[in-house]
Amino acid sequence: MQISMTVNGDEITREAEPRVLLVHFIREILGLTGTHWGCDTSNCGTCVVLMDGLPVKSCTVLAAMADGHDIRTVEGLATGGVLDPVQQGFMEEHGLQCGFCTPGMMLTARALLDRNPHPDDDQIREAISGQICRCTGYATIVRSVQWAAEHPAGAAATGEEVNA
Ligand code: FES
Ligand code: FES
Repeated sequence: MQISMTVNGDEITREAEPRVLLVHFIREILGLTGTHWGCDTSNCGTCVVLMDGLPVKSCTVLAAMADGHDIRTVEGLATGGVLDPVQQGFMEEHGLQCGFCTPGMMLTARALLDRNPHPDDDQIREAISGQICRCTGYATIVRSVQWAAEHPAGAAATGEEVNA
């Protein structure tokens, strides 16, 4: 069947079987491998993308269900060559630990900040509770999201130096 959607601002149409999951459509048909596939049980959250601005586990959505919708993956987080403040925050506060769960974490954080620009730590922890960090813990991830909340225009706009 033909499936059409907007992905990171581009309108695309591809042929795919009706049973294809969105995560596989994104990774294997579109070649956007920043979206990761970490479990078979809908538990890990590493596959999160934004659908119409809301985080969804793309392993629980058929590509056909995303037909006509707006999808944003981690590849679409930076705009015009400028990192999203969430990406900068993960860099500044070392939220990028294993890297595997990071794309989903960042997209969830972006959706949170879009609806709540000043979340407290508990609200951040609740927002990312659908995502499992297996490697160390959530402290630096929470600090990274707080950094983004404190720098909504990003470091460049405030003249701060970003630690590369
Ligand atoms: S791949 Fe684990 S929740 Fe989707
Ligand atoms: S930061 Fe990815 S599993 Fe911990």
